[in-house]
Amino acid sequence: MRGLTVPALCVGFFAASIGLAHLRPFGNPRNITEQQRIALTGDAQMRDAAKRVLIEKCADCHSDATRWPFYSNIAPVSWLIEHDVVEGREHLNLSRWQELSPDRQQVLSQEIVQQVKRGTMPPLPYRLIHWRARLISADVSALTTLAPDEAIETAPAAPGDPVRGRAVFERRCTGCHALDANREGPHLRGVYGRTAGSVPDFDYSSAIKKSGLVWNDANLERWLRGTDAMVPDSNMGFSVPKAQERADVIAFLKTMH
Ligand code: HEC
Ligand code: HEC
Repeated sequence: MRGLTVPALCVGFFAASIGLAHLRPFGNPRNITEQQRIALTGDAQMRDAAKRVLIEKCADCHSDATRWPFYSNIAPVSWLIEHDVVEGREHLNLSRWQELSPDRQQVLSQEIVQQVKRGTMPPLPYRLIHWRARLISADVSALTTLAPDEAIETAPAAPGDPVRGRAVFERRCTGCHALDANREGPHLRGVYGRTAGSVPDFDYSSAIKKSGLVWNDANLERWLRGTDAMVPDSNMGFSVPKAQERADVIAFLKTMH
């Protein structure tokens, strides 16, 4: 080590970090052609204000049009950033929005509104570095238009059918729920007859934990008709406007002990 000066050591570490950045434990998310580098195509059916926020504040991690800052070339920071981008795109890739089915777009829109209302996106470290990526209230209002409240049907439905209900579950609920694992929402096997907010390892809103509900036909129907009207400040910003779909999915959940 004698004779090696501090600046020389620094240069050495720096060069090594740049070298290490080429080892890519999460795959290479930068491997994208110029034509693919579009955050959100112009023909996506969204208000311009919502598109603008998504492109400015979300597209770095949720599209193929990531803007890579200089420090993203230096390990280990490069790995953290690449990991976020790989994961972010997996959950939601705005560059592919037009390829999604309308149902999938709707579920993702609802997830976006949910994340934004909770203040969990963009993630905190990103907001600390990119001050302007913090969402202001105008951004939240703009993004909320992605999932406007639909007119809720209240007409009595035909008796619920668990087979149709499974299809409704797959289409409308699995964006956030699974039967046997907690995801964005708690696992739903056995929810019928369960006390609301009682899955021990799930992080519920305090509103639902305090609700004192035990899930049955009547309160599941009200919950799915509009969670906010029933439990204000719950974390499930989602509703099922069609009365028949609600009856069917409840019938399905009832069979999932
Ligand atoms: C720094 C990168 C980064 C930015 C910027 C970012 N996200 Fe994310 N996002 C992630 C990662 C990583 C995940 C997956 C892991 C997680 O849920 O924390 C994710 C997940 C999501 C999900 C899916 C949640 C789920 O459970 O499936 C939504 C919806 C979302 N982000 C919306 C947004 C919106 C809207 C913005 C802009 C306002 C945004 N994100 C900005 C990194 C980012
Ligand atoms: C956008 C994400 C999202 C979608 C889509 C969604 N949920 Fe949820 N759900 C949640 C979250 C988050 C919670 C926890 C609420 C809380 O903590 O306030 C929840 C809670 C619940 C609960 C209460 C569970 C308990 O343990 O008390 C039921 C029942 C439920 N959801 C049913 C459904 C059904 C049925 C569907 C589909 C028709 C659905 N959810 C779609 C996010 C979602």
